[in-house]
Amino acid sequence: MARILTGIQSTGTPHLGNILGAILPAIEMSKDAKNDSFLFIADLHSLTQIKSPQTLKENTYSVAASWLAFGLDPEKTVFYRQSDVPECSELAWYLNCFFPYQRLKLAHSFKDKSSRLEDVNAGLFVYPMLMAADILLYDANLVPVGKDQLQHLEMTRDVASRINHKFKNLFVVPEAIIREENMLIPGTDGEKMSKSKNNTIDVFQDEKTLKKIINKNIITDNIPLEAPKNPDDSNLFKLFSVVAEKDQAHQMAKNLRAGGYGWGHAKKELIELINAKFHSPREKFLHYMNNKNELDYILEIGAHKAKSVATKTLERVRNTIGY
Ligand code: TYM
Repeated sequence: MARILTGIQSTGTPHLGNILGAILPAIEMSKDAKNDSFLFIADLHSLTQIKSPQTLKENTYSVAASWLAFGLDPEKTVFYRQSDVPECSELAWYLNCFFPYQRLKLAHSFKDKSSRLEDVNAGLFVYPMLMAADILLYDANLVPVGKDQLQHLEMTRDVASRINHKFKNLFVVPEAIIREENMLIPGTDGEKMSKSKNNTIDVFQDEKTLKKIINKNIITDNIPLEAPKNPDDSNLFKLFSVVAEKDQAHQMAKNLRAGGYGWGHAKKELIELINAKFHSPREKFLHYMNNKNELDYILEIGAHKAKSVATKTLERVRNTIGY
């Protein structure tokens, strides 16, 4: 039996990259009867970027609604809000004290965010140790994530191993699970899809807005409609193929290579595909966003279950390190 754990930061509504890179793989793994699972909303992490109480709350709901819209079963999965389990922040402090400052300085995500964001706070810097605490607090074995989180997982393994070296086997050392085909979903501009880069595709948006975003934001070249096109050079084709079934992607590649098939046609197909594929999750998402009391109820039950595991781990840690 393996324990699966992963979280989504509540800095906005999860986008296509979050869904294909983490939400769907994690839910699939949680359905395997051999596993137990902890899936959560990383709302403490989002405080590094969000300072409006209203937005913080609303985003927490939209991440919760997304997990449920894609089929998370709260009866089988421990589903909770990170901030409902303050034991996590205490453990993060201990981990901070065992991890070298020089190692944290090497974090790519800190370098990236600190070069782009105005608010470069200390929380952004120690962010990887809060993430390590999320994982170690629940003795997780497998952590499904996108490629951008790999270094954070390495740091988690590193801090766990350092502490295990000093205090024998205090922590389970987790493993990252990355699916090759979805490890890095591109945004509308071809860069990694990311909330902070304004290049996301939000599949929960209404059809009209989705159409506008895809038509306006996905960059294509200006090869004329009649000319053959190379799908391998096209971000639009890449986006289509991560959502489509293999035979659909194969057909589009064939159409592009043949000529007489323009980018406008390909965009239309992508819009139709997303609308068809995400129709049911979109309805469920809207249902939960209109019935937040249901979300509160589900998350309250999850918080109790998570807390009962967390308090035991923390007691083990406190006893071992000398408190
Ligand atoms: P976050 O919220 O940025 O992203 C959530 C998950 O989505 C994946 N992801 C992507 N996958 C493929 N292509 C993309 N373009 C893409 N963008 C995002 C991320 O890799 C991630 O798996 N620090 C984490 C949240 C977190 C966490 C944890 C994750 C907090 N504690 C403990 C796992 C375990 C974060 O900011 O992810």
